[in-house]
Amino acid sequence: MKDFSLIELLKDFGRKRVNEDPYPEAAEHPVLHDLDILVLADTHHAIPAELLYQKTQTDPDLVLILGDVNFADLQTFFNGNFVPRETPIYAIFGNHDPKDLFSFFPRIHVLEEGRVEEISVKGKTITMTGLYGSIRYKNTDHYILHSHKESVDLLDPLPKVDLLITHSNPEFEKPEDNQYEDICQDAHCGLYGIGKYIDDKQPELVLHGHLHKQFIHKRKDTYVRCCYMVERFRI
Ligand SMILES: [Fe+2]
Repeated sequence: MKDFSLIELLKDFGRKRVNEDPYPEAAEHPVLHDLDILVLADTHHAIPAELLYQKTQTDPDLVLILGDVNFADLQTFFNGNFVPRETPIYAIFGNHDPKDLFSFFPRIHVLEEGRVEEISVKGKTITMTGLYGSIRYKNTDHYILHSHKESVDLLDPLPKVDLLITHSNPEFEKPEDNQYEDICQDAHCGLYGIGKYIDDKQPELVLHGHLHKQFIHKRKDTYVRCCYMVERFRI
């Protein structure tokens, strides 16, 4: 049955507004082609409902949550009925997310680290995997953190996937031996396991958060997009 809540009426009213962020016109995605994605990343208890409203004027094919969102942001998202109930929603944890965060939201499917999943979107099968958290910049269990070595150990055994989602940015240079398994003081230095996976396996697309910036670059055949807050794009 049609939901006539205020937010639905507002969405219908503004249905023709442009809600997509730019994406390189020449980008080639043999598998992911024509997929319409909504991303939430690093909202940190500050998700603007107006931005969600702007980015969901039409229904996306897939929702991806890249971590460092929190309980209140997810409540805002789900209580607002911004996407239809049947829209697939996949998530990974950011370094600040409590480990039980997503258990309160049964519509979210949490990707397991070190495992490739096949998902079906718009009648096509996509392979996807994810990596949680960021580089270990503190000696604590309170945050979800990995050393460079741990990130390599998790991603290196995996085959090529179409879509890799991570919270952290990639680091492409192999760190010095004394940094490989240890703490890195720079919380944003990136994880070598992600960079190595990109260079070795060349997934079609990598989406990450953590840097609180929006940009896209190409590494060999892989497009790497840093997402922030609420983004919507068709690839
Ligand atoms: Fe983060």
